[in-house]
Amino acid sequence: MRGQAVLVEQVVVNLALNARDAMAACPQGQRRLSIIGEPGLEAHEVRLVLRDTGGGVPAEALERVFDPFFSTKPASQGMGLGLALCRSIMLGFGGSIGLGNLADGRGAEAVLVFQRARQGPAETRQEFDIEPAPPAPKGAQRGRARRGGEVRGEAGGVSGR
Ligand SMILES: Nc1ncnc2c1ncn2[C@@H]1O[C@H](COP(=O)(O)OP(=O)(O)OP(=O)(O)O)[C@@H](O)[C@H]1O
Ligand SMILES: [Mg+2]
Repeated sequence: MRGQAVLVEQVVVNLALNARDAMAACPQGQRRLSIIGEPGLEAHEVRLVLRDTGGGVPAEALERVFDPFFSTKPASQGMGLGLALCRSIMLGFGGSIGLGNLADGRGAEAVLVFQRARQGPAETRQEFDIEPAPPAPKGAQRGRARRGGEVRGEAGGVSGR
């Protein structure tokens, strides 16, 4: 796909952090982030889809999530810049980003659309169980403690289509 690796990483990290925050209230063992690479709707596109099992985006927020400084989190936990940054990076690649909710309150889904650089595998999938952060050591920096958290990854392999 067409994009600059370090910027793609920034987009994915921002989306993963949002997923982690959204799943913070889920019971342990039910926090799952799936990252799926698949063909786009158009032949010249490829999609990267991130699905989480959190509470989803509040209906009244859906229209505004990409606005700079829009956040539903306490000021100490979110500036509201993550998705605005993701959007400008994706537009810079000639791609796009969307965020919506899965049916039946099953979580949220972010869809990244990239221009295809060459033919590749039909689909790749990775899944991560996200565990709560261990208690912060005394005197640890607050932001760091909040960002902490253990992510156990599991590659799901390539399934041909
Ligand atoms: N996966 C998600 N599930 C539910 N709501 C989400 C999800 N991703 C984003 N949102 C909503 O979109 C808002 C904006 O997200 P954005 O990443 O721009 O800012 P933030 O996470 O609040 O702060 P920052 O990214 O600057 O730390 C969030 O505050 C949240 O309400
Ligand atoms: Mg964010």
